[in-house]
Amino acid sequence: MPGPTVWIPRRLSDATLERAQASYDCIINWEDGLSGADDLIEMSAKADAVIPCHSEHYSADVAARLDPRLKIIANHSVGVDHCDLPALKARGITVTNTPDVLSDATAEIAMLLMLGAARRAVEGDRMVRSGQWNTWSPSFMVGKQVSGARLGIIGMGRVGRAFAEKARGFGMSIHYFNRSRLSPEQELGATYHDTIESVLAVSDFLSLHCPATPETTGLMNAERFSQMPDGAVMVNTARGALVDETALMAALDSGKLAGAGLDCFVTEPLGNPAFAAYQNVFTLPHIGSATVTTRDAMGFRALDNLDAFFLGKTPGDVL
Ligand code: DGY
Repeated sequence: MPGPTVWIPRRLSDATLERAQASYDCIINWEDGLSGADDLIEMSAKADAVIPCHSEHYSADVAARLDPRLKIIANHSVGVDHCDLPALKARGITVTNTPDVLSDATAEIAMLLMLGAARRAVEGDRMVRSGQWNTWSPSFMVGKQVSGARLGIIGMGRVGRAFAEKARGFGMSIHYFNRSRLSPEQELGATYHDTIESVLAVSDFLSLHCPATPETTGLMNAERFSQMPDGAVMVNTARGALVDETALMAALDSGKLAGAGLDCFVTEPLGNPAFAAYQNVFTLPHIGSATVTTRDAMGFRALDNLDAFFLGKTPGDVL
């Protein structure tokens, strides 16, 4: 009997593709182009499993039209806001993700964005690169110091905790809001706040690490920005949907926020071209987990989930 066929719609790491091909009949999108709803539906009739990224949208409409051949969506991502989980569950499709393995890489990017926004990296880089650096004085390019400042974290899951660990190395005091309070072993001295408003009030720096859900969409809006200390810096490495981008620009325009670091945008790919006018916004193209080590680990975690499924076991990361 032929083994399962796996559709791989994006160019995953070489090590992942090698292992996938050793275990399964694979249909690989070597060109790496994006797949729309019709492609997802067409391919569901040709494969028993798919390893999508957050760029493939399994909406309720797509879920309703998938071929019954597709049994498992083994995501190559920790975030699953691109999957309508209830609709997929209703179709009897197993969905998994890849937690843990990308926490450090994403926390590194959050740190890069925080430091870059605080110390005016975009402005300074542009100045040197364009040959326009023609002065120096003690009042030149003065930024905001990270060391010793208060860091607010919204969403103290694996990535939030990995970021807190790195921020402790900078002597930051950690404050967090989470759906539930962590154990003392996980809290490691961080201060728990039982409301978002309370954590915002002490966030000289704020980093978002919660998933995008209907409840968290537009979490950072005009009112919430107004609750932060003057001159605060916000970092988002989670999902663009968490931030009202118009409200963020208004907070930057008014000086309420001194800067922002964004790896995620409401519209991806592309981002929001209006941020180009802001030298105090450090932007990156959703590359939080983009390291060789992490890409391999994500691919392997997705394959571990597939292997378990096809051995008749419950995958470790079933949602
Ligand atoms: C994730 O895993 O959710 C990252 O955003 C990359 O897709």
